[in-house]
Amino acid sequence: MFTISVPASSANIGPGFDSAGVAVSRYLTLQVKESEEWQFTHTTNSIPSVRHYRDHYIYKVAKQVADWHDSPLTACHVTMDSEIPLARGLGSSASAIVAGIELANQLCELRLTEDQKLAYAVKIEGHPDNVAAALLGGFVVTVKMGEEASYKKLPAIQTDLVVYIPNFELKTEDARKVLPEEFLMKDAATASGVSNLMISALLTGDYELAGKMMESDLFHESYRAKLIPNYFDIRSEARKLGAFGTVISGAGPTMISFVPNGQGATIAEQMRTILPDYEVDALQLDEKGLQVKVDIPITEKD
Ligand code: HSE
Repeated sequence: MFTISVPASSANIGPGFDSAGVAVSRYLTLQVKESEEWQFTHTTNSIPSVRHYRDHYIYKVAKQVADWHDSPLTACHVTMDSEIPLARGLGSSASAIVAGIELANQLCELRLTEDQKLAYAVKIEGHPDNVAAALLGGFVVTVKMGEEASYKKLPAIQTDLVVYIPNFELKTEDARKVLPEEFLMKDAATASGVSNLMISALLTGDYELAGKMMESDLFHESYRAKLIPNYFDIRSEARKLGAFGTVISGAGPTMISFVPNGQGATIAEQMRTILPDYEVDALQLDEKGLQVKVDIPITEKD
């Protein structure tokens, strides 16, 4: 019937804490086919299996959206493939939410706009930084005030990315527990100045300055550094190899470097020798976000 593809995402980008996010070139893919009854098949074992389709997270999201529209959700067979590791700071749950919303959108013919999809995704996820990037692609700045999320996608950022994925999980709630509950006004003003300058530098193509600001975050990086082995080594080694800036991806434990265009593969290869226990991967920013490809039925020729 159709295929849904959603990129992974990296939230925060240092000082853009709880606000900025980028879509990155690893994907969750759902192949959806007509079926008598609901069925989920996983082609990768990184996705947890469930005993009943009703317990499947993607089904739950799709059903919730269908219910909001009082629409029945037709049964189908969903084959899922994921390149996004769980609980590593690469937005696996955000991608699943966006995929579930699109599944309902297609099956119930809801014709949701991007704004409606984002509003549903924020309602389910609670915060917009990952879901906005996964939905829209590229570098997206968001803010949630009350229940409403506003967003703006930046023009394409011309850098490669390198990710350093350790082989352990870190739950966002644990990574939030180490953050201070309060922040002095003067520190908040400096911290938001750092964030503003990072965005301005990205918009004007000054990636050196943007990288410097990424590494000058005051909101969360210094508190979370202790949860992330090799945090300082990864930053300094990547910088020696030419990275503009290296930050925690989302709430961690993955870290991500913004590196000059065309140098991702070389830098990743060298970083692999320093981090043999990590999955080090050269990625791109994904500018497309959520994609749906409707299969054209093969008809017999006369
Ligand atoms: N902005 C969130 C955090 C991302 O840093 O806690 C995790 O979903």
